[in-house]
Amino acid sequence: MKHFAVIGNPIKDSLSPLMHNWIFRNLDLQAKYNKIHVEKEDLPKVVKQLRDNVLCGINVTIPYKEKIMKFIDEINPRAQSIGSVNCIMSKSDKLIGNNTDWYGFTKAIKINHIELHDKEVIVIGAGGVAKSILFSLKNFGVKKIILLNRTLQKARKLEDDIVIAYSIDKIESLIKYDSIIINTTSIGMYTNQFPFEIGFINKKQFLIDIIYTPFETPFLKLGKKIGAKTLNGLDMFIFQGLASLDLWFGEDISKQVNFIQIKSYLEAHIC
Ligand code: ATR
Repeated sequence: MKHFAVIGNPIKDSLSPLMHNWIFRNLDLQAKYNKIHVEKEDLPKVVKQLRDNVLCGINVTIPYKEKIMKFIDEINPRAQSIGSVNCIMSKSDKLIGNNTDWYGFTKAIKINHIELHDKEVIVIGAGGVAKSILFSLKNFGVKKIILLNRTLQKARKLEDDIVIAYSIDKIESLIKYDSIIINTTSIGMYTNQFPFEIGFINKKQFLIDIIYTPFETPFLKLGKKIGAKTLNGLDMFIFQGLASLDLWFGEDISKQVNFIQIKSYLEAHIC
């Protein structure tokens, strides 16, 4: 039996165990997937479990996608250039860090037919997930990324010829009636808060959230109500998980999974 887990803090709302255990059952794989609540000082203990093969692989979520990097032996070049790791595997006695978030986001954008080439996009948040999304957006050939964050210095570190950082307070002068806006923060996951003042939400905008529990954050709910197009984080979540499985098992597990079935199964648990 192979054991896998997602580590994070908080972790109680993660649907990763539900998704992966459903896939293991349906594909008859001898494997089990748990969630582990980890305090920062206990990260080395989890890494030891990987080294001792107690765990065959892990996903990493809030707030460790960057912090975990110093504990592992090798970072895949793409994950290195993104600057965050959400999937770790053990190969030839080495722990290798990968990033499957960028892929999950890319697939979600593609299957929902969202056109990003040559567009200006607003990204809110400058954490580990935001880095993966910036990477994906640049691959789509976006013209400009307006990166808004509570802590301006953190966003500034991600600036380049495409990305321009501002404090979230400046949103009024940057948001447009038809902006594409991506929330990468956890705002709306546990509280009824919005990533910015609701008066700036417009029906011509496209609102994207990386959160999938709740199924619709207050941000998406309001946007939808007034007629904006919306996309929650569930598709991205599923695709990052499928990509993690392919890495851990070294084969195309993802091709054997029916996306519609797994999505309906997860939706039934969220709603
Ligand atoms: P992750 O790795 O999942 O992206 P993270 O690195 O902790 O998580 O980043 C979370 C992002 O959400 C950050 O941009 C954070 O803003 P700061 O850089 O100012 O900390 C943002 N964020 C989280 N909670 C927030 C809140 N209540 N208000 C505004 N921004 C918040």
